[in-house]
Amino acid sequence: MKNLISMRDLSKKEILDLMKLAEKIETGKLKPDMSDKLGALIFYEPSTRTQFSFATAMKRLGGQTVTMRGTGSTSVKKGESFADTLQTIAQYTDIIVIRTAVEGSARYASEVVDIPVVNAGDGANQHPTQALLDLYSIVKTQGTLENLTIGVVGDLKFGRTVHSLVQALSDFNPKLYFASPSHLKMPPYILDDLREKNIEFEEIRDIEKIIDKLDLMYVTRIQKERFTDPEDYEKVKGSYIINKNMLKSVKSNFKVLHPLPRVDEIATDVDDTPYAYYFQQAKNGVFMRQAIFTTLLGSAE
Ligand code: NCD
Repeated sequence: MKNLISMRDLSKKEILDLMKLAEKIETGKLKPDMSDKLGALIFYEPSTRTQFSFATAMKRLGGQTVTMRGTGSTSVKKGESFADTLQTIAQYTDIIVIRTAVEGSARYASEVVDIPVVNAGDGANQHPTQALLDLYSIVKTQGTLENLTIGVVGDLKFGRTVHSLVQALSDFNPKLYFASPSHLKMPPYILDDLREKNIEFEEIRDIEKIIDKLDLMYVTRIQKERFTDPEDYEKVKGSYIINKNMLKSVKSNFKVLHPLPRVDEIATDVDDTPYAYYFQQAKNGVFMRQAIFTTLLGSAE
């Protein structure tokens, strides 16, 4: 692995190796030393968890980070190209973590620079490090990645986390239920991939009808910033709200995951139930991102 751009680039073995490595790091069995490493965190789009957990991961490994948040104070304002900006930052640092609004930009970045590039979200396309921390959270709560029944709820069209997650899960024979407003369905190319891999999936309207069958429910925010017409957002906002009442007869192993930030799609009365796992999920992001840095910077031994 030289870069981490899309879940499609990772084999099942590479995914499982990252799970094992994150576990070793979390339990303290392995303490990689990154004290000679400097990571660049380049965020053209807003971020809380991804940015903080990548910075935390590098610092906990003994390394350091430099961060670009937005373009307001950079030479992008003077007309510098994306490629020149990246080539410059690559002169100073050992690895680039990048988030932009433009699909394909992380792949392009990896072609421009010689150091490893990690995609921290490229528009509505992919968010592979989130998918890996989601899988790690699934292993920790279910004891396995194999043969799980999972409901995926919310904005399946623009949500990059669900695109990466579904691709990642397709190596582990899941049964998937997709629930979204009709204009925000899972893109056809993802569904085609699932058909090709013989993964069972169903597009449904009413999550309550199948909630008792689920091992996991992965809830996402409607991606307001990707709508060109604000009125279209107004029509679909609040279409899926999960509350405590709906969880009365769920399976005992059932967990609710969410990449966060949440707006209103999970009522706060769910937070105190044994089913809420989204904040622990965010914490798992640090261990997984430590594993990703360790793998890409070649310090796994
Ligand atoms: C997600 C993202 O940026 O795609 N957030 C995250 O990284 N945890 C989800 C979202 O913004 O809704």
